[in-house]
Amino acid sequence: MSNTTNWGIMATGKIAHTFAKAVNAAEGANLYACASRDGAKAAEFGKLYGAEKSYGSYDELAADPNVDIVYVASPMSCHYENVKLCFEHGKNVLCEKSITMNSAQLDELVKIAKEKNLFFMEAMWTKCLPTFLKAKEWVRSGRIGEIKAIRADFSNPVDFDPTDRLFRPELGGGALLDLAVYPITFITAFLGYDTVEISSSANFGNGGVDTDEAVIFKYENAFASMTAGFNMENENRAVIVGTEGRIAFDPWFFCTDTVRLFDKTNKLLEESKTPHLCNGYEYEIIEAQRCLGAGLTESPLNPLSDTASVMKIMDGLRKDWGYSI
Ligand SMILES: NC(=O)c1ccc[n+]([C@@H]2O[C@H](COP(=O)([O-])OP(=O)(O)OC[C@H]3O[C@@H](n4cnc5c(N)ncnc54)[C@H](OP(=O)(O)O)[C@@H]3O)[C@@H](O)[C@H]2O)c1
Repeated sequence: MSNTTNWGIMATGKIAHTFAKAVNAAEGANLYACASRDGAKAAEFGKLYGAEKSYGSYDELAADPNVDIVYVASPMSCHYENVKLCFEHGKNVLCEKSITMNSAQLDELVKIAKEKNLFFMEAMWTKCLPTFLKAKEWVRSGRIGEIKAIRADFSNPVDFDPTDRLFRPELGGGALLDLAVYPITFITAFLGYDTVEISSSANFGNGGVDTDEAVIFKYENAFASMTAGFNMENENRAVIVGTEGRIAFDPWFFCTDTVRLFDKTNKLLEESKTPHLCNGYEYEIIEAQRCLGAGLTESPLNPLSDTASVMKIMDGLRKDWGYSI
């Protein structure tokens, strides 16, 4: 593989636009191709971001031998088919969150990726951001002692729109797969998956999807809690409380560029601020490219076992809330 990575963007919805800007800003990345189910939409997207090729079908993108890695940006319920298509054509994949609708789908995709020796990663950009990595470093080096509690929230008020994927169960709608996946990933990234109990409650709203929820994680020596939802206005902070201090993420914790370390008397010890190079998505792009260059099929920053463990938790919550998974 050359020093430049040829990216293909599969699906040209909202997040694909944000991601395309990051590809164009990231060193070593080339927005080579894009694909939409609609040829005219693909051509418009391609023109906007300078893609060499634009395709009116996902198959054509997957089949293009010059594409090094495909970024899958379709709704959740399409990920399984779209990623499988990429794998069938021997393509590496960075797939948007939530990676699949359930563990069964994910397990199958992971198996195929391993059989074909292809790179596969959930586009959980939070885990590639400098703030998150700084917090990991503070925890690892014992700066806050033993973690006793984590709090993380992610709400994003959005009006009901029956055409929006967020309110359409058949597209994987609902706040869990769209928003709660972030606090769940965050909490488990620091406290692990060995929970004693997970309790939760969810409200269902228009469209028949979970619109707001709260989850409590009980560990042997710690607690964590989170809320997520479409009807709550929140600061979306996250805090990790340890026996010797705490780590506080600024609002919009999952993408903030600022995180602070306090001691147990509440004295500020350190502030880490790393302005994004573009919009924050460039870090996952750079990480995927680094892995491809090093011949890795998984990112050590976001291994598939972590993604699978988060998916299992979400399976359990969805089952508890009456979804058939
Ligand atoms: N990382 C983040 O910060 C972030 C933020 C927002 C969303 N996301 C994730 O990105 C994915 C897409 O979200 P989005 O907000 O971009 O959604 P969106 O605006 O609804 O776009 C989704 C795109 O998927 C394609 N698509 C394929 N099959 C479809 C179907 N049956 N119905 C509707 N669209 C279909 C369409 O593109 P074509 O018409 O071009 O085929 C559509 O424009 C989701 O997995 C979401 O969780 C991530």
